[in-house]
Amino acid sequence: MPRTSQRTSAFGESVIREMSRVATRHHAINLAQGFPDWDPPAALIQAAKDAMDAHRHQYAVTWGAPELRAALGAKLTRCTGGAVEAERELVVTCGATEAMIVAMMTVCDPGDQVGLFSPFYENYSADAILSGATPVLVPLHPPHYRFDPAELRRAFAGGLKAFVLCNPSNPCGRVFTREELQQIAALAEEFDVFVITDEVYEHIVYAPHRHVYFATLPGMAQRTLSCSSLSKTFSITGWRIGYVHAPAEIIAQARKVHDFLTVGAAAPLQHAVVTALNFPPSYYEELAAEYARSRDVLLSYLDQTGLNYTRPEGAYFVMVDISPFGYASDVEFAHWMTREIGVAPVPGSSFFAPGENRYIRLNFAKKPATLHAAGERLLKLKR
Ligand SMILES: Cc1ncc(COP(=O)(O)O)c(C=O)c1O
Repeated sequence: MPRTSQRTSAFGESVIREMSRVATRHHAINLAQGFPDWDPPAALIQAAKDAMDAHRHQYAVTWGAPELRAALGAKLTRCTGGAVEAERELVVTCGATEAMIVAMMTVCDPGDQVGLFSPFYENYSADAILSGATPVLVPLHPPHYRFDPAELRRAFAGGLKAFVLCNPSNPCGRVFTREELQQIAALAEEFDVFVITDEVYEHIVYAPHRHVYFATLPGMAQRTLSCSSLSKTFSITGWRIGYVHAPAEIIAQARKVHDFLTVGAAAPLQHAVVTALNFPPSYYEELAAEYARSRDVLLSYLDQTGLNYTRPEGAYFVMVDISPFGYASDVEFAHWMTREIGVAPVPGSSFFAPGENRYIRLNFAKKPATLHAAGERLLKLKR
């Protein structure tokens, strides 16, 4: 039998999705994989049914239905203050997952280096490897998950082609300050590096923190590929609608990658989400307020366990320090916790550079009843 490609041996299966399967096997509450356990807004579900009835069953325009690109352009203009040319500067993808790999394949050649903060969302290193590039990790130091400017500079000086910025950050919940983003921007300028952003949690930010769109920093629009999706904002992780926004010359290349990878996201759903993009500002305020309440429920139980955790500034994950349990392997701890406590976490090592195994990640994109049930079980972890 011939051998499968070397690139597929260079990364493993998703630990997050694996922990979801372990949760099901042990009938545990799944706080591992990040998806809400509630339905999207009723108006959005109705819009999907309407799109089906309106015969939207065939391929949409490969780079995204024009109505959707117009609505995304208007949304981006509202959020960033900049004009967006929806005709040339956007490509609609199958979620941010596709947006990120399209962005990486668009800018990277085999042998290039891609900078990532560690901890990072696990897709990025696989995306880099699939693009023929080598990931270069720059630590965000726990428990506050800040970078050391000298370490960041060393990575840029080592010859990066692109730097990936997840903001607000999964898994550590950081919302980078304008000053931190300016430091990254200055290095991108100095070393002539592309910046690929993943801003899927742009609307899940807790006061007083505020999301700054990286492309709005002076000089950055021309070198930034901004990726995001509607998965998290409208609780439709299964609909698979995302996008890349970048200058027209970059998007012209990205559209080819997208076209040959997937042709396009589901046509009826592209039409349906236009309804969501027209929701009033109060929708976004309520979304963030709802997540802030969920965060506080989970944190109130963690407070009672006495375990240390990092208070999330954005996104819907919390990193918890499990070192008091003395496990040599966080993976072993995560399996034990799923089996014996009945709550499934993700072992932190799946997000970090090798060697870090003191953390688990819990997500709180769950109904209050689910979080209270999980919280009661977590009390058994009390130290
Ligand atoms: C940081 C980050 N990016 C991308 C994704 C995937 O987004 P999408 O559903 O749009 O593919 C996730 C999902 O958990 C995520 O946390």
